[in-house]
Amino acid sequence: MSYTTRIAQVTGHLNFPKGLLAGQVAIITGSGQGIGAEAARLFANEGAKVVVSDIDAEKAKNVADKINESGGSAISVPGDMLDDNYINELVKKAAEFGSGKIHIIVNNAGYTWDGVIHKTTDKQWDTILALHNTAPFKLVRAAAPYFRVKDGEPRNIINISSTSGLHGNAGQANYALAKAGVVGLTKTIAKEWGPQYGVRANTIAFGFILTRLTAAKEEGAFITTPEGEKVALGIPQAQKKARAGPGEEHADIPLRRPGTATEAASAILAVCSPLMSYVTGQTISVTGGRNM
Ligand SMILES: NC(=O)c1ccc[n+]([C@@H]2O[C@H](COP(=O)([O-])OP(=O)(O)OC[C@H]3O[C@@H](n4cnc5c(N)ncnc54)[C@H](O)[C@@H]3O)[C@@H](O)[C@H]2O)c1
Repeated sequence: MSYTTRIAQVTGHLNFPKGLLAGQVAIITGSGQGIGAEAARLFANEGAKVVVSDIDAEKAKNVADKINESGGSAISVPGDMLDDNYINELVKKAAEFGSGKIHIIVNNAGYTWDGVIHKTTDKQWDTILALHNTAPFKLVRAAAPYFRVKDGEPRNIINISSTSGLHGNAGQANYALAKAGVVGLTKTIAKEWGPQYGVRANTIAFGFILTRLTAAKEEGAFITTPEGEKVALGIPQAQKKARAGPGEEHADIPLRRPGTATEAASAILAVCSPLMSYVTGQTISVTGGRNM
C-alpha cells in the first residue's frame, strides 16, 4: 500500500473528489479585485462557498456573479472593514450562507498610504493600523462562535502580510508595523484556538505581486477613506526605476520577476487546503525568494 493511500485511510486526507475545500464557507476580505478576487475564484473552483467582501460593491458583485455563472457558489457582501456594523453583518450573512458554519477567513483587504516617518500624519498612521490590524482582529473575534466549535471540520484563518512587515520598508512605517502586527495576531489565534478546536492560523507575506497596489502610481488608482480623503495607490515610476538600476530589473528577486495575483492566491489556497493540515502559526513568504 502506498504511503499516500495509507495516510488517506488514516486521516481521510489526500482524497478530494469534490475539491480541496469542498463544502467549506470562506470569507475573503478585499476580494473585489487583485489577489482576493483570484483567491475567491480558486476557492470556488475547489468547492468552497465564497463570501466576497469588499468596500467596492460593484467589483464584489462582479466577482460573485462570475463565480456563480461558472458553476461555483458565492455571495457578495459589500462594506467597509473600518465599520464595526459591517463586520458583524459580514459574519451574520456568511453564517446564513453557510447554514450556520464558517470555515475560513482570509484577512486580505488593505492598501498602502505611504510617507516617510517625519511626514506621516496621525490619520495615515491610524487608518493603516485600523485596516490591517484592528479590522482583522474584530472580524476574527466576531466569527469566534463559528471557529470555537468541535464538529470535526477544518477551520482556517489566513492573515495577509508583506515583506514590508517582515523586513521594513522605507516610506512605509505605518504599513510595516501593521503587517508585522498580523504575525503576532496569527500566532496567538493558533495558540488559543488550536488546542481544543483544531483551528489553524497562518500568515502569508507577499513580496511584489502585480496588482493595482504595485502598478505605476501614475495610472491613477485611488481609494477613498471614510472621511472622504482620496489616497493614491501604486508606486511612483521614478521610485521603481531608482530601485532597479540599469539592466537589473527585479535584481532583488531571485526569480527575477514579480508574482501574479493568481500565484499569490494559489498560495492562500494551498495553506487553507488539507495538504497543509499540520501547518499552523507560520509566516509563509510568497516572494519569489526576495529577502531570504
Ligand atoms: N500587491 C502586492 O505586491 C502586495 C504585497 C504584499 C502584501 N499585499 C497585501 O495583499 C492584500 C491584497 O492586496 P492587492 O495587491 O490584491 O490589492 P488590491 O487593491 O488589488 O485589492 C485590495 C482590495 O481590498 C479592498 N479594500 C481596501 N480597503 C478596504 C476596506 N476598508 N474595506 C473593505 N475592502 C477594502 C479594495 O477595495 C480592493 O478591492 C493587501 O492586504 C495588501 O496589503 C499586496
